[in-house]
Amino acid sequence: MKLCMIGTGYVGLVSGACFSDLGNQVYCVDKDKKKIDKLNKGISPIYEPGLEDLIRNNFKSKRLSFTNNLENSVKDSKIIFICVGTPSKKKSNLVDLSQVYNVAKSISKYIKSYKIIVTKSTVPVTIGDEIEKIIAKKVKRSLFDVVSNPEFLREGEAIRDFKYPDRIVIGSNNKKIFKKMELIYQPIIKKGAKFLCTSRKGAELIKYASNAFLATKITFINEIANLCEATGVNVEDISVGIGSDARIGSRFLRAGPAYGGSCFPKDTKGLVSIADKFKTNLSIVKSVIKSNHDRKILLTKKISKIMNNKIKNKKITVLGVTFKANTDDMRESSSLVLIPYLLKKGGIVKYYDPSGPKNEFKKNKNLKFEKTLIKACLGSDLIVINTEWDEFKSIDFKKMVKKSNFKIYDMRNLYNPIELRKRNIKYYSVGR
Ligand SMILES: NC(=O)c1ccc[n+]([C@@H]2O[C@H](COP(=O)([O-])OP(=O)(O)OC[C@H]3O[C@@H](n4cnc5c(N)ncnc54)[C@H](O)[C@@H]3O)[C@@H](O)[C@H]2O)c1
Repeated sequence: MKLCMIGTGYVGLVSGACFSDLGNQVYCVDKDKKKIDKLNKGISPIYEPGLEDLIRNNFKSKRLSFTNNLENSVKDSKIIFICVGTPSKKKSNLVDLSQVYNVAKSISKYIKSYKIIVTKSTVPVTIGDEIEKIIAKKVKRSLFDVVSNPEFLREGEAIRDFKYPDRIVIGSNNKKIFKKMELIYQPIIKKGAKFLCTSRKGAELIKYASNAFLATKITFINEIANLCEATGVNVEDISVGIGSDARIGSRFLRAGPAYGGSCFPKDTKGLVSIADKFKTNLSIVKSVIKSNHDRKILLTKKISKIMNNKIKNKKITVLGVTFKANTDDMRESSSLVLIPYLLKKGGIVKYYDPSGPKNEFKKNKNLKFEKTLIKACLGSDLIVINTEWDEFKSIDFKKMVKKSNFKIYDMRNLYNPIELRKRNIKYYSVGR
């Protein structure tokens, strides 16, 4: 099948590479010329384990191509996936749908034969109707269907998640579409993924409700972790204790920093704003958003406490600055609050991240990216473990820091407190 992915970011690129790996002919289109040039040289513009190999193999087999030419790609494809960004609007909970609407407008110029237009971007419930209206201004209704097929992949595990998802959700108001979509997902369904068919609006809402529920689980255990710290209980016992109940489930119950990334923050806000539009009060999701915001401040304040309010001129190392491990994505990362806070308090900050230095942290005499873990840790007064890359899981801190007196704040609970304290290391973690 000939497919076209519009938007070659985390979702469009991974989906495009995986669909081509399943034997389809895939055009990956992006308006960003630099991105397309890189991809045509076999270089992935994003850090995602296994992605570069997948791109190169399928590019070589000529099943996968990268282009800025929207017209040819649309005309030559049967199914067109919209995979562009849907960020929050600045200083508001509303979703900025301009990228999606621009794509709808652009493709409507090139549709001359029947196409299925699939929205893979996360869009609020009812937006499929708007996309349909935009395209219908230029194209006969019999020449297209607009379908919702939300994507559930996680950065860092994106290829596995795409190829072995728990479920594939297709939302369409035209029942004939389900069979056609089932066909392209057949190899994945055969491996055990559930294939769920619903209305277009139903699929749109499933995506937002899923993300809001997962964000709620994280926020819930983070608040319980605060109570654990106040009462001397180990939050990990609580996670296992409640997660062992099949009705609750054990995943997304690890206490740590505030959730971040390109999805949960904007999707919880987007859900609240669409619910407000329909005069429905989602009070739980609203309090999750507030609690998560408060947590960023709470954890930075905890650093002051750990350092006895003496951050000025202290050498602080931050390990991991992306919103989680195995990605280079900085969107809504808690480090964007943490590092400016430390600098404001006069700290001398070094950071190390396996995915490399970040544009967000350029130009500051008291902030430096170190190329290795060893250099980053050497001589520190405080090491903050912010994300859980494998590289951070078995550090010999005394050997690396080479100092008698230093502290560790492990925001991901990677180490055993008893063992570190036995070695006379001043160690602090979350909810234990
Ligand atoms: N990142 C994730 O983990 C993830 C997971 C599930 C769903 N989603 C959703 O998928 C969508 C895309 O997310 P992402 O993280 O891949 O975004 P992204 O910002 O990484 O990529 C979007 C891409 O679209 C391109 N683009 C924008 N307008 C274009 C146009 N008119 N023509 C061609 N290309 C255009 C941009 O240049 C960019 O490369 C969002 O709605 C997001 O919520 C993301």
